[in-house]
Amino acid sequence: MKDKNKILILPDFIANQIAAGEVVQRPESVVKELVENALDAGATEVAVVVKMSGKQLIHVVDNGCGIDKDDLELSIKRHATSKLITAEDLEEIRTYGFRGEALASIASIALLEIRSKLKDAEHGWKLVAEPMKKEIISPISMDSGTQVFVKNLFYNVPARRKFLKSDLTEFRYISDTMIKFAIIRPDIRFTFYDNENLIFDVLASDPVKRIENILGKNISSSLIPVDYSTDTLKISGFVGEPLIAKQSKSGQYLFLNRRSIISKSLSYAIFSAFEHLLEKKSHPFYVLNIILDPKQVDVNVHPQKHEVKFEDEKYIYNALTKAVGQALQSSNLVPEIALNYQEIQSPFTKMNDEDKFVVVNKMTGEVISTERNYQEQRGQSTTSPNFQRSRDYSSNSSENKNFEISAFDFLFNKKKSENQQEEALTKGEFEKPVQMYWQVHRKYICTQTDKGFIVVDQHAAHERILYEKALKAMNKEYSYSQDLMFPIEVELDSSKRLLVKELEKDLVNLGFVFDEKVNGKISIKAVPLDVVSGSESESFKEIVEQYEEESRLRDSTTRDNLAASFSCKAAIKTGKYLTGEEMKKLIDELFNCSMPYVCPHGRPVIIEFTIPELDRRFGRML
Ligand SMILES: Nc1ncnc2c1ncn2[C@@H]1O[C@H](COP(=O)(O)OP(=O)(O)OP(=O)(O)O)[C@@H](O)[C@H]1O
Ligand SMILES: [Mg+2]
Repeated sequence: MKDKNKILILPDFIANQIAAGEVVQRPESVVKELVENALDAGATEVAVVVKMSGKQLIHVVDNGCGIDKDDLELSIKRHATSKLITAEDLEEIRTYGFRGEALASIASIALLEIRSKLKDAEHGWKLVAEPMKKEIISPISMDSGTQVFVKNLFYNVPARRKFLKSDLTEFRYISDTMIKFAIIRPDIRFTFYDNENLIFDVLASDPVKRIENILGKNISSSLIPVDYSTDTLKISGFVGEPLIAKQSKSGQYLFLNRRSIISKSLSYAIFSAFEHLLEKKSHPFYVLNIILDPKQVDVNVHPQKHEVKFEDEKYIYNALTKAVGQALQSSNLVPEIALNYQEIQSPFTKMNDEDKFVVVNKMTGEVISTERNYQEQRGQSTTSPNFQRSRDYSSNSSENKNFEISAFDFLFNKKKSENQQEEALTKGEFEKPVQMYWQVHRKYICTQTDKGFIVVDQHAAHERILYEKALKAMNKEYSYSQDLMFPIEVELDSSKRLLVKELEKDLVNLGFVFDEKVNGKISIKAVPLDVVSGSESESFKEIVEQYEEESRLRDSTTRDNLAASFSCKAAIKTGKYLTGEEMKKLIDELFNCSMPYVCPHGRPVIIEFTIPELDRRFGRML
């Protein structure tokens, strides 16, 4: 029996198995290590085949530089690597691998076979390694590149094998890893098989096409490019439009120098740039690669290299928030009404009729010529008949009288300009339309744009405007306060009074001036500019109550929540009649916002109907 206090050096085999425990946790770890080796070897094509979710076989084939006979023998020894030579190299790692541990670890817990041939060599070499046995090397005829077979993973460590999850779960791990490689390396062809089933075979292509091939068109058509650089880093990739945000975090791909990493704080940096673009509990889609001088990051802090340590994490955090924020602001996030033409069978078909091109309605046999003047068509679709019908409709009921006024007073009051406009329409002068606003059911505002028309949710639009004003006020960018002629008292219960104390600084920056009286009441002397006269005390109360609600539901900063509460309570409500001038002001202010398309709660503010979509819908275009 071993002397209790005697220190022994562990035999290589046991040391390797212990290391393997760290490097190889599951079949997915093997796949990751082998694909990384293939990429480090400069492969342009990598094929992966797994059987029984990698428990039975993992086979990785590459067309990289290959390994010569001597190196092949060394490759499965611990700390044998061709990737690091000096201690300084460890400070700036440019390859996926650097420890010289992966193959040694794998060889200690599975049957390993490596076949490899250098490009100009006459033949390749095959190495067969079995734990506790001397490896065998023999010549083999093969294409240049490397093939690695890993069979019966953990067969000699039953405890580890027992702890593997179901085939489906283990396969998911592998598949996630393959997807990450495929996404970040669109320059590489990846082929991936599960038994005989082809999961994907993606040829080298550009990043968007690769995302489309791997994740589908739904995602690839909703990407916003991110391209941001500072002196020391570059962030590139894509974020998804809020529309494709998911309830889970599965659509989030973060890379550092093309290595997939996990970082709670950096994920939060990206999330926070989405500000209030997302509905509660949804997570944005992103594929982002941070390119950083390897000297500024330590990738050697985690056995699977998933976590990394940045020299200046705060800097990266801020850069990510800025990069994503700028990308979102410069993109048009107005959701268009997308009509699905696969679902809507068009009754129209194009036909050739005596050299003349015609469109025929298949249902009725009606022939609709395509040679109509396009300008004329557009004129017909926007001139008076539409309005005439609405007028008749509104005058039929007294309930709708107000809508009639709201929809058309702006037009009727400007009879002259309407006439001018009709003249312009007949002349086909569409470039400078007279702006018209139509309030629908005291809820939505419609107006024409260059591309078609938009429908704006009046409450959400005003919320957005006030939210941005409030944030600016709290950042002291401008004064947003108006003094009251006479102070107004508000009564709050003790918990709300405590909350007011807590929020005092921000409430003051927002524009409220108040103090607490001896009787516990709060005396308000000034309120933010947009608080409607006569509702000051009610607003104050509601904002504090709403704040409680917002902060319970959302994971945002105090200021954000306060701005959202203020905007929600002070914004014009659904049901409020707006004059033409008011609608115009609202829309103008909305488009002056830095992010006009969503309200602070993540709901859309604007929906656009484009002329091409409408044309297709009405059968004017196939
Ligand atoms: N597919 C391959 N093509 C060419 N050379 C390879 C391939 N796989 C492994 N090698 C060689 O074998 C060596 C050992 O590989 P291994 O994965 O064990 O270590 P590493 O990649 O250097 O470091 P790490 O343990 O961090 O992955 C590599 O340094 C490389 O020289
Ligand atoms: Mg490696």
